[in-house]
Amino acid sequence: MRVLLTGAYGQLGRSLLDRFPADWVLLACGSAELDITNRAAVDRIVRRFRPQVIMNAAAYTAVDKAETDRIRAMKVNAIGPENLARAARDTGAQLIHISTDYVFDGMKPTPYVESDAPCPVNFYGLSKWEGEKRVQAMLPRAIIVRTSWVFSEYGNNFVKTMLRLAQTQQTIRVVNDQRGCPTYAGDLAQAMITLAADANAAGIYHYCGDKAVSWYEFALTIFSVFSDEYPALRSVEVCPISAASWKQQACRPVNSVMASERTAHQASCWDKALETVLSA
Ligand SMILES: NC(=O)c1ccc[n+]([C@@H]2O[C@H](COP(=O)([O-])OP(=O)(O)OC[C@H]3O[C@@H](n4cnc5c(N)ncnc54)[C@H](OP(=O)(O)O)[C@@H]3O)[C@@H](O)[C@H]2O)c1
Repeated sequence: MRVLLTGAYGQLGRSLLDRFPADWVLLACGSAELDITNRAAVDRIVRRFRPQVIMNAAAYTAVDKAETDRIRAMKVNAIGPENLARAARDTGAQLIHISTDYVFDGMKPTPYVESDAPCPVNFYGLSKWEGEKRVQAMLPRAIIVRTSWVFSEYGNNFVKTMLRLAQTQQTIRVVNDQRGCPTYAGDLAQAMITLAADANAAGIYHYCGDKAVSWYEFALTIFSVFSDEYPALRSVEVCPISAASWKQQACRPVNSVMASERTAHQASCWDKALETVLSA
């Protein structure tokens, strides 16, 4: 399999690099090698390398900053994926693009499935939904994987933020009235590799963790798993707070729990995966 990976040095990109089958021929591009917003550069690389599958792990992921950096967020999350989908269409490649639980407004009392209608409450979610629509218009058979609350041993994520705060703060306040499914990037990467090898896969898939929690409950689990190795964490107090008392630029959905009505993929067993992150 010939695979072009974009956003290769973000947390999902690096998790994919760790897991690609040894016999796949890979061209891994970070933002320095390929800016996906540059249509001519995308066309040039795709025409030269001729991938069978393009995996897009590139994105503008700063949810709060996106509120005031709208043009950049829209370019990276909507125009970039459209450029990749066009190049895939023109060369007969498949595209696996990643989207987010933040395309939903969070008002549904039960888990969101693939057929639920998006209605984003922040600009990041809007830009990612626009990306989904542009990809589907350009390449109807493209694969779009929506995921949520991603963490790994790489990059910036909630697990690392909690552990960093615990080094300097005795009390950590964490939002307890937003729920979602944490997802280990390594499990997501494995699901993408499986989808890439499935010639019949197409359309939108939800892939996320197997247990829904609030951010507060996620933090408690992180400290519980890591405290065997770092006993000092036992003295850190985690306080539940409301989202309303935590001023953030972007709104977040109250319920961004997702489930899949169409995949047989093993959901991310995220609490077990925390042990993998600990040992990394
Ligand atoms: N993290 C989460 O909790 C979460 C939740 C739901 C969905 N997702 C989705 O999951 C996917 C992977 O996210 P992640 O956590 O791996 O994000 P990440 O760690 O922020 O990685 C994103 C990567 O995209 C690259 N990038 C940004 N602009 C680019 C451009 N114009 N051209 C090429 N590359 C560019 C960045 O490179 P530079 O650093 O060099 O700019 C970075 O390496 C994204 O689609 C994201 O929307 C993430």
